[in-house]
Amino acid sequence: MVALPLAVGFAALAALATPAAALASDNHTCAVLPQYYSCELPSTEVHYDTCCTPVEGLVLVTQFWDTYTGLEAQGSVLPKDSWTIHGLWPDRCDGSYGQYCDLKRQYDPTPSPKTVTGLANGTVVPPWTGGDVITPILEKYGKFDLLAYINKYWKSQGSPDWTFWQHEFSKHATCFSTYDVGNDGTNDCYGPEYANATEASIIDFVESVARSQNKYPTWQWLAAADIKPSNKTGYPLAALQDTLTKASGAVPYLGCQGKTRQQLSEVWYYSHSLGRPQDVNYKPIDQVGKSNCNTTAPIWYYEPAAGSVEGGQPGSGGNGTAPGGGNGNPNNTCGA
Ligand SMILES: *[C@@H]1O[C@H](CO)[C@@H](O)[C@H](O)[C@H]1NC(C)=O
Ligand SMILES: *[C@@H]1O[C@H](CO)[C@@H](O)[C@H](O)[C@H]1NC(C)=O
Ligand SMILES: *[C@@H]1O[C@H](CO)[C@@H](O)[C@H](O)[C@H]1NC(C)=O
Ligand SMILES: *[C@@H]1O[C@H](CO)[C@@H](O)[C@H](O)[C@H]1NC(C)=O
Ligand SMILES: *[C@@H]1O[C@H](CO)[C@@H](O)[C@H](O)[C@H]1NC(C)=O
Ligand SMILES: *[C@@H]1O[C@H](CO)[C@@H](O)[C@H](O)[C@H]1NC(C)=O
Ligand SMILES: *[C@@H]1O[C@H](CO)[C@@H](O)[C@H](O)[C@H]1NC(C)=O
Repeated sequence: MVALPLAVGFAALAALATPAAALASDNHTCAVLPQYYSCELPSTEVHYDTCCTPVEGLVLVTQFWDTYTGLEAQGSVLPKDSWTIHGLWPDRCDGSYGQYCDLKRQYDPTPSPKTVTGLANGTVVPPWTGGDVITPILEKYGKFDLLAYINKYWKSQGSPDWTFWQHEFSKHATCFSTYDVGNDGTNDCYGPEYANATEASIIDFVESVARSQNKYPTWQWLAAADIKPSNKTGYPLAALQDTLTKASGAVPYLGCQGKTRQQLSEVWYYSHSLGRPQDVNYKPIDQVGKSNCNTTAPIWYYEPAAGSVEGGQPGSGGNGTAPGGGNGNPNNTCGA
């Protein structure tokens, strides 16, 4: 990713010659700059602040439908009546994507695939061995409510949740130009207002993830069309796809598991972002790929195992909780 320098109007030509990092770090006030939809810039000539509009501007809000965590014995259970968070991804406008774009913010204990670029010659991403950093950072800044939220909704399968959060942050967030912190010639989108831009970018991203997920209450949308998890009745792919298309405003990608691709397991909502993904002003865009789910046989939207869900019996009504439905804020992080 190339970070374009901030330059507007007549300043453009002069500023173009200046590496972005040479600019003062505090001139990225998106509130006072023109807003563009990512991937919809008026022309290739337009110069914009990459802290304020993501260069990799096909924004994906992604969720899982899991039936277990694999760590139930350690107390890790799924939220009731809710899909769980996968992540917030920065695809390029053509649907391709980068990964691990800033190795100075590499906190993923198990990078995969193990390259920076995904190209065969890519630099190997060193596994992080320093343990959980996101939990202590959120605690340091008093973000206990945000931490409670991700502990509940951002669930890993078969590994501690923090390993998954850090994987998502280092693999994906570092490729969004709006979370850049000034490493390797990028802009510092945070500036001297923040004592530690790396920590600011982590909190900013986690809040963005929460805010984004709350816009897509998949469980509730399906339930409103009488599509509820069931181990007795399967659903045609078209019913799932049509329901989520009507509710979200564009065709999402649906992912299925199993040899015959009949087990519903994920959804990806595509969008263009008006300004920063942090502000979640998304314009829904149809998926650029194609569902891998079985189109001729019923799709199973399985009930989770009873012991894998918070508070006992799954599917027995109860309170809507995001991202599966409505606002699941434990307390007052407005971003969650
Ligand atoms: C930052 O913005 C101020 C106000 O527009 C301007 O005077 C200053 O030159 C800018 N600094 C840089 C390095 O762009
Ligand atoms: C890897 O390949 C890309 C494209 O072919 C090239 O631009 C880049 O410089 C290469 N990187 C290394 C480390 O060789
Ligand atoms: C916010 O939530 C956290 C975690 O659930 C809790 O420990 C804390 O007491 C809550 N704070 C308030 C003011 O409710
Ligand atoms: C900023 O925070 C990161 C992550 O907590 C830490 O590794 C780094 O040392 C901090 N930098 C400074 C200058 O304190
Ligand atoms: C769809 O499911 C049916 C029934 O299980 C199976 O026979 C068929 O091979 C599946 N199609 C694909 C593409 O997996
Ligand atoms: C529903 O089926 C799934 C997949 O076989 C299974 O993991 C889960 O435990 C079942 N749930 C219930 C409540 O039977
Ligand atoms: C859950 O929902 C029920 C009614 O649907 C309501 O009476 C109850 O107060 C709610 N509980 C919480 C914690 O929001």
